[in-house]
Amino acid sequence: MSKLQQTLSIIKPDAIERNLSGEIKSIFDKNNLKVKESKKIHITKDEAAEFYKVHQSKPFYNDLCTYLSSGPIEVMILEGENAVSENRRLMGATDPKNAEENTIRKLYGISIDKNSVHGSDSMENAAKEIDFFFKN
Ligand code: CDP
Ligand code: MG
Repeated sequence: MSKLQQTLSIIKPDAIERNLSGEIKSIFDKNNLKVKESKKIHITKDEAAEFYKVHQSKPFYNDLCTYLSSGPIEVMILEGENAVSENRRLMGATDPKNAEENTIRKLYGISIDKNSVHGSDSMENAAKEIDFFFKN
């Protein structure tokens, strides 16, 4: 069953730095995910730590937070049919080496940490993550 949903997407510093924002957004557009809101921001390490707190016990947490706050990012609300899973499908696997052909991470990801995009993994997290960046 298909449902109109919203999800949060982030274009991470490695992709902003390489000016890939337009190309990534054109992949969303071609696949019927509409960019409803978008802003380019540069978050602090504390804000990154709050955003990624589900990963606080992971060995990569500190580096992940340093990385997400290392340069500008673009945060977006995407809307479309099954937007949460559709965005995850378009992103590809976390490690670009394992990502399917033509996914964003396969096309543009550099490594498991510099993997170009973030996407919410459930409707519940999508709502929380949209709130995190777009409330008020
Ligand atoms: O982003 P995704 O939901 O695919 O993966 P995750 O398991 O929720 O991990 C969040 C982020 O942490 C990933 O996108 C990677 O940037 C990073 N990560 C890492 O640096 N090293 C790992 N072994 C796993 C994840
Ligand atoms: Mg995740």
